Amino acid sequence: MAYNLLKGKKGIIFGALDENSIAWKVAEKVHEEGGSFVLTNAPIALRMGKIKELAEKTGAELIPADATKIEDLENLVEKATEVLGGKLDFVLHSIGMSVNVRKGNHYTDMNYDFTTKGWDISAVSFHKTMQTLYKKDAMNEWGSIVALTYMAAQRVFPDYNDMADNKAYLESIARSFGYFFGSEKKVRVNTISQSPTPTTAGQGVKGFDGFIAYADKMSPLGNATADECADYTLTLFSDLTKKVTLQNLYNDGGFSNMGVSQQVMDTFMKEEDS
Ligand SMILES: NC(=O)c1ccc[n+]([C@@H]2O[C@H](COP(=O)([O-])OP(=O)(O)OC[C@H]3O[C@@H](n4cnc5c(N)ncnc54)[C@H](O)[C@@H]3O)[C@@H](O)[C@H]2O)c1
Repeated sequence: MAYNLLKGKKGIIFGALDENSIAWKVAEKVHEEGGSFVLTNAPIALRMGKIKELAEKTGAELIPADATKIEDLENLVEKATEVLGGKLDFVLHSIGMSVNVRKGNHYTDMNYDFTTKGWDISAVSFHKTMQTLYKKDAMNEWGSIVALTYMAAQRVFPDYNDMADNKAYLESIARSFGYFFGSEKKVRVNTISQSPTPTTAGQGVKGFDGFIAYADKMSPLGNATADECADYTLTLFSDLTKKVTLQNLYNDGGFSNMGVSQQVMDTFMKEEDS
């Protein structure tokens, strides 16, 4: 259902890789709600080709940028404001990658070059993006910047590995930069802490199927889907949430406040009975 929530708003969406990506769903829904945007991803992701389909479907320009490279981000912000014909109202940072996870390195046996690279991609890139937008004064007043995160920033999920630390850093950047963006430019900055979701990045986590099933059984409303995450993101881009800033907002069906659920209890009771 479209409400014209983002009519006339302009922005940049990072991180759509394929139709499972959370950023892909956000792009589709922003388009439905009347917003226009530039799509961006790392050059290698653009070469995979899928994102071109999304660009055609949503009438978006595609501008490659490695989010760890300042010169790429500067080029992106300059071109995006040119193509869209003015300053931006929204930016989605939907980027995450751990090289240690990819290479199967255990948390207690990290390769620190990989740790640094994953931290740069997953966390510092958010600072680099905001610093570029800030220095170029590229955001409109009452604009909104959102990054995606996961609850492993607060609680232990052993197989989430160094991504847990990266997410904690990312959430802290949202608060620290959000202060300056808010007080000096009236721009809000928030993170959405999403349920486990079957995407390329999500499925990279060891034992993901168990992880997602457990979270679903623990959450009174069940796991939030990528579509539902996109809906929530849209509310934060809209004018209906103007004074929400410096927040880490859970879109997780209630998981983050649960201790145990009946469904999870039942699993253990059965094991005990048999
Ligand atoms: N899937 C989940 O379970 C889940 C849960 C909570 C939060 N998140 C977060 O949501 C965000 C989006 O992930 P997703 O699940 O949609 O997976 P995804 O794999 O579809 O998206 C990750 C994106 O990051 C991009 N990326 C990687 N390196 C980059 C770089 N150097 N420069 C620019 N882009 C780069 C990838 O190309 C990809 O498009 C991530 O921050 C992820 O941590 C995911």
